Amino acid sequence: MFEGGEGCGKSTQARLLAEALGPGTVLTREPGATEVGARLRTILLSPETGDLDPRTEALLMAADRAQHVAEVVAPALAAGHHVVSDRYAYSSIAYQGYGRGLSAGEVRMLSDWAGGGLWPDAVVFLDLPDGDGGQPRSHASAVLDDRFETAGAAFFARVVAGFREMCEDDPSRWIRIDGSAPVETVAAAVRAAVGQRLQLPL
Ligand code: TMP
Repeated sequence: MFEGGEGCGKSTQARLLAEALGPGTVLTREPGATEVGARLRTILLSPETGDLDPRTEALLMAADRAQHVAEVVAPALAAGHHVVSDRYAYSSIAYQGYGRGLSAGEVRMLSDWAGGGLWPDAVVFLDLPDGDGGQPRSHASAVLDDRFETAGAAFFARVVAGFREMCEDDPSRWIRIDGSAPVETVAAAVRAAVGQRLQLPL
């Protein structure tokens, strides 16, 4: 599971780890990995949607998660595959909880319910220590004016603070890696840390 702010290199690193884990590994993401999830992603990110009540936003993220787990994650795990996801429930706690101001505990419970109690063995948090608090930077693959990317600097500072707090509170699950190093340096650090944590030869 990869978590972090905007433009921290999660998608690239998730892909590289999935490649390192080998054939059969399922690379996926939230929101938007299923057909209904893709529709929810459009609603969630499109500026045309306008303002959403934070609870609506949290419920739509949870709906995406429920379908993602049911359709993609649980079947892959049942078949004995590794699953690498670009974002999961911790993004809801960070963005809808810390960012939008909902209770982090309630968002955690909602995600727990949506995901059928499924939580990852390891969470890689790509932190940008000297960065701008996780605020979006221009990056090629992203729509630059999505609903989240237009949120203010204070919002992103709260989101990143949330990730850092969760990371500190749960060191047996979380792995913090400096995402500002060159891509291959970060990838090697991810392989080493995940390999050690999950007892895999990476
Ligand atoms: P992405 O650009 O990394 O694919 O993520 C899309 C946006 O959705 C990003 O700004 C983070 C946000 N998000 C939430 O607010 N809550 C969530 O639960 C998830 C999975 C993503």
